Amino acid sequence: PAPGWAISADVVVVGSGVAGLTVALRCAAAGAKVTVVTKAHLDDGSTRWAQGGIAAALGEGDTPEQHLDDTLVAGAGLCDEPAVRTLVSEGPGAVRRLIETGARFDTDPVSGEILLTREGGHHRRRIAHAGGDATGAEVSRALIGAVRAAGIARAGGPRLELIENALVLDLLNDAAGRTAGVTLHVMGQGRRDGVGAVHARAVVLATGGMGQVFSATTNPAVSTGDGVALALRAGAEVSDIEFVQFHPTPLFLGPDAEGQQPLVSEAVRGEGAYLVDADGTRFMVGQHELAELAPRDIVAKGITRRMQETGTDHMFLDGRHFGAAMWAERFPTILAACRSHGIDPVTELIPVAPAAHYASGGVRTDLYGRTTVPGLYACGEVACTGVHGANRLASNSLLEGLVFAERIAADILADSSAPPAEPVVPAPGGAPLLASEARFEVQRIMTAGAGVLRSAESLTVAAGALERLHTAAVEAYDREGKTAEPCVETWESTNLSLVARVLVAAARRREETRGCHWREDRPERDDRDWRRHLVVRLTPHRT
Ligand code: SIN
Repeated sequence: PAPGWAISADVVVVGSGVAGLTVALRCAAAGAKVTVVTKAHLDDGSTRWAQGGIAAALGEGDTPEQHLDDTLVAGAGLCDEPAVRTLVSEGPGAVRRLIETGARFDTDPVSGEILLTREGGHHRRRIAHAGGDATGAEVSRALIGAVRAAGIARAGGPRLELIENALVLDLLNDAAGRTAGVTLHVMGQGRRDGVGAVHARAVVLATGGMGQVFSATTNPAVSTGDGVALALRAGAEVSDIEFVQFHPTPLFLGPDAEGQQPLVSEAVRGEGAYLVDADGTRFMVGQHELAELAPRDIVAKGITRRMQETGTDHMFLDGRHFGAAMWAERFPTILAACRSHGIDPVTELIPVAPAAHYASGGVRTDLYGRTTVPGLYACGEVACTGVHGANRLASNSLLEGLVFAERIAADILADSSAPPAEPVVPAPGGAPLLASEARFEVQRIMTAGAGVLRSAESLTVAAGALERLHTAAVEAYDREGKTAEPCVETWESTNLSLVARVLVAAARRREETRGCHWREDRPERDDRDWRRHLVVRLTPHRT
C-alpha cells in the first residue's frame, strides 16, 4: 500500500544495535535531524546478547598491528587490508568514546585499568568486557540511555526521533534515482501507525544479521536478514554472503532445539576451559597451535568432525576447575543460563554444539560505509566492509559497528550536496509475500543443506527446495492474485527466503573450502581461483 503518512529527517537509521545507535548519536550531536526506526524494541537486536566483548589493542604491549595480523589470519585470505587497518587503528579511540558515552567496562580494582580477556584467534588478551559476560547488554544500556537523552524535546523539537515496532519495507528514490528515504510499516504506535514514509537524504541500514535463516542460531528472533533483502531489492551489491560463521560452543539443548540458543562465550575458553569429547579427550590439542583458542571456524570444524567420528550430536566444555566464585563473578550470565537448563558448570561438563552465529558478508561498503547505491549506507553485521573476510575474528563485531558508525556519521555530516527531490511513491505490489510458516521451511532447508558442512549435492538440494517454495508463492499470486497478508511475519519469511536463495547460490559457486565455508566435496582452500569475493547484485525489484 502507498504510505499513509510521511515525516522528514536528515538521516534515517534502520536498526538500534551498537551500529545504528552510534550513527544516530554522532549525527544528532552534530545537529542533524535523525529518525531511528527499529523492528521491535530498542534492545531486541543482537547487540545486547554479545557476551565476550570488544576487541581492541588497549593492553600494554599490544598494538593495532598485532590485532591486524590476527584478524587477517582468521579471515582466511579474504579480508580487505585497508578496512582491517582502519578497524584496528581507530578501534581503541572508538572504545574510549563509547566509555565517554556512558559504557562501563570491567576494570582492575587497584589500577583502574580495563580488564582484558582472550578469545579464539587472538594471540593476546585484548577483549574488553563488562558485567563479566554481559558486554553487549552494557553497551546497549549506555547507548539507549544516551539516545533517549538526545531524543528529549528541546526548543525547535527533538533532534532524534525513535520509532519502534516498525518494519522498513523499501528504499525511496527521487525522480533522479537518488536515495530519498524509506517506506515502513508501523504496528500500534498511535500517531505513526500503518504504512508510512520517512523522507531523508541518507539511509543507514544497521539491521543486524540473518542467523534466523537456520534452525538453531545464537541470534535473536528479529535477525531475519531484512537489511540485506532490502539492499538486494534496491539493487545494491552484496558480497561474501556465503560466509556464515557458526559459533563453536552454544549450549546444546537437544537435537531438535530451534530458534535462539544460549551462548557459552569463547571467553570461557579464553579463561582456560577445555573442549572434551564424551571420553574426556581434549580433541583440539594437536589440531592447531592455539588448540581450543584456534580461530572460530577451526574450532567449529574440530567439534563437528569429532561429533561425526564419535556418532554424537554434541561435545563438552569443561570449566569445573574455575570453581564457584569465578563462575559467579566472571560468567554470571552463562552460569544462570546453564543452571536454568539443569546444568551446573561448577560441577558438570557443559554440552555444546555449533549454531549459526554471524554473517561475515553482507551489503558491500567502502571505508565510509557507503553502499553501491548513493545515499544508502550499511553498518554493523548487515554490512560487508571487508574486515571479516571469510571468517570474523571473535569480538571484532561490536568494534566494527563502533568504528564504521563514526565514519558514516562523519560522511553524512560532510555531505553538502542538494537534498533529494520529493520521493517517487513506489508502485504497489509486484511480487508476493510468503506465508509466516515458510520461515520454518526455509530454516529446515538451510540447516540440512547449507549449514556447517556443505557439498555440491546438499547445496543443490537446498537450492531446489528454496526455489520451489518461492515459485509456489509467485505462481499462486500470478494465477489468483493471492498473497500472504502483509505483516512482520510474512515480510520476515519473504526476506529470509530471498537471503537464503542468494546465500545458497554463492555457496554453490564457491567451489573450495575457506574460512567458515566448508565444502566436503572441495576440502582444500584454492587460492589460485578463489581468493576473491563473490559479489551479487539483483535488478531492483519490490520483493
Ligand atoms: C563470544 O562471546 O563467544 C562471542 C564473541 C563474538 O561473537 O565475537
